[in-house]
Amino acid sequence: MSIVEFRNVNKIYNKTTKALTDVSFSVEKGEFVSIIGPSGSGKSTILRCINRLVDATNGKILFNGYDVSYAGKREIRQVRKKIGMIFQHYNLVERLSVIENVLHGRLGHKSTISGMLGYYSEQEKEKAFSIIEKLGLIEQAYKRCDELSGGQKQRVSIARSIMQEPSLILCDEPIASLDPNASKIIMDQLNNINKTMNITCILNLHQVDVAMRYSQRIIGLTSGKIVYDGPPETLTKEKIYDIYQSNEGELITDVG
Ligand SMILES: Nc1ncnc2c1ncn2[C@@H]1O[C@H](COP(=O)(O)OP(=O)(O)OP(=O)(O)O)[C@@H](O)[C@H]1O
Ligand SMILES: [Mg+2]
Repeated sequence: MSIVEFRNVNKIYNKTTKALTDVSFSVEKGEFVSIIGPSGSGKSTILRCINRLVDATNGKILFNGYDVSYAGKREIRQVRKKIGMIFQHYNLVERLSVIENVLHGRLGHKSTISGMLGYYSEQEKEKAFSIIEKLGLIEQAYKRCDELSGGQKQRVSIARSIMQEPSLILCDEPIASLDPNASKIIMDQLNNINKTMNITCILNLHQVDVAMRYSQRIIGLTSGKIVYDGPPETLTKEKIYDIYQSNEGELITDVG
């Protein structure tokens, strides 16, 4: 069974903006997939439909075989527990420490009360520290997040999502605000998590070269339609041109 499946999904915002047109694809467990395409092509909309931050207008979206389209509040919470989300701007609580932000990854697993009181078990704390260590942040553990560099913040947000024990991580432009060195660290970490923890990763990326270097598979979107779905090896210059409708796709940053 695929971990994510889109069947003929359409999304129209405000009755006027067609963001996705007849989008169908599936992602298998353990895959590392990048979605590329020009600004406004629908990349974020795809990711957001999976965890119901956005409601598709029609079509089917399955997560582990479960149709999320009809999920009620409770079910959506269950689905979100299993899906980590990484954003361009990290979405951390800046005034809290690294360790506190990472522990927040457990909130979806807790009762509201123990979450509100900030109650975490010793086991959870140990787990948080071991993840922080794995991501090379142990010296930052008690620092406030507003004291960290962008690359460190993104590692905290990855740590927080691993703390959730997700089966899928969605990354919306995870390296868009980072320099090439920090980007390489983030991409290597995501790759490592994918391989060692068997967590499926779906990323939206603007950097075609990065997508090609790291992904097993690339989905190219143009104006809400899939125009490429295959391995990086067969993504030719012509196809990149088709996706971007220009040479924009060649404007690529070098990472590593
Ligand atoms: N909340 C919203 N309300 C109305 N229109 C929206 C909304 N979110 C996205 N859109 C529109 O839907 C289309 C797809 O947007 P989306 O954000 O999915 O693109 P994207 O590929 O992620 O772009 P970018 O690379 O700039 O992040 C765009 O035309 C956008 O203006
Ligand atoms: Mg986007």
